[in-house]
Amino acid sequence: MTTHLPASLIATLPGPYYTDPEVFRLEQERIFESMWICAVRGADLDGPGAFRTVQVGRESVIVTRNRAGELRAFLNVCRHRGARLCTEESGEVRRNLQCPYHAWTYDLDGKLIAAPNLVKMPDVDRTAYGLVTVALREWLGYAWVCLADEPPSFEETVIGAAVERLGDAASIERYRTQDLALGRRITYDVKANWKLIVENFMECYHCATIHPELTEVLPEFADGYAAQYYVGHGAEFGSGIKGFTVDGSAGFDRLPEVADEQDRRYYAITVKPTVFVNLVPDHVILHRMFPLAEDRTVVECDWLYAPGVVESGTDVSRSVELFHRVNVQDFEACERTQPAMASRVYRSGGVLVPTEHHIELFHTWLLDRLRDHPSGPA
Ligand code: FES
Ligand code: FE
Repeated sequence: MTTHLPASLIATLPGPYYTDPEVFRLEQERIFESMWICAVRGADLDGPGAFRTVQVGRESVIVTRNRAGELRAFLNVCRHRGARLCTEESGEVRRNLQCPYHAWTYDLDGKLIAAPNLVKMPDVDRTAYGLVTVALREWLGYAWVCLADEPPSFEETVIGAAVERLGDAASIERYRTQDLALGRRITYDVKANWKLIVENFMECYHCATIHPELTEVLPEFADGYAAQYYVGHGAEFGSGIKGFTVDGSAGFDRLPEVADEQDRRYYAITVKPTVFVNLVPDHVILHRMFPLAEDRTVVECDWLYAPGVVESGTDVSRSVELFHRVNVQDFEACERTQPAMASRVYRSGGVLVPTEHHIELFHTWLLDRLRDHPSGPA
């Protein structure tokens, strides 16, 4: 079946891209296991031995802090017989990482330091059986990891890609996200393909229909034009709005370095493949996605405030509630869409209206990643 669309409409990806396990497997290999993935907030690992495990593509990754206080990432697989080392999502080990199966023990730099009866096996080279290290970079206060043998340039593919949306590097640096404190974290288990979540975040055609609170604060969103539509564009708060809160009431002091022209504005950035950054004058909201299956994506959303706001115990609930509602409204929409991706109606896709045309760039990017890869065409 071929689709003939008027010139002003563009086809979306066909439905199977959102439902086919084989497409998801290719995405794991060529996207999530090849690009830089925002894994863990650095401050969550508050001392040596604190760890967090995250799913990156098909691998479980441990992010921890070593004795020197530096972040380290390893594949969560014991080199002996392959048991998962850390079975908890987060925790703290006293000194070393010890496998729960036969007690091989690794230090916090991944070196194999002890194994029962190893003295009787002199042929085991301890240096060769350390944990497999994963590349790690810190930015915006988060540990970003990359499973590729030769990671792509972090400066180009992460920082550059984010800055491109804002127009200049200073715009994002002024929020000093790495110095902010965690006011709230909410984890959403979304029964939808990760691309539906990205596409939804990129457009605002749905804002007037499903986001009554957000369009009250950002009236231009009611027209359907997303802040991402124009480079460097921040959506302006409505005239009677005092702050980025669920009822438009006052928020907190403007973050110290945020410029006058950034005041009373909301900026949205997608850092492919799995991060959304939302900037408002008094806080930053950062979404990290963990695609677990073709129809399931866990999203961790952090609300970050000036340390003084969090330390003083000030109530942030009106501030958090605005984007929490937006998240719930968005994810419900994605979950309503997911089952229909398997319908015969969507076999050759749907359409993008003109205000959504920039989503086509995401589709082109995705198809390029799935096609042009050293291991061969899809
Ligand atoms: Fe880890 Fe045996 S599998 S010690
Ligand atoms: Fe939305």
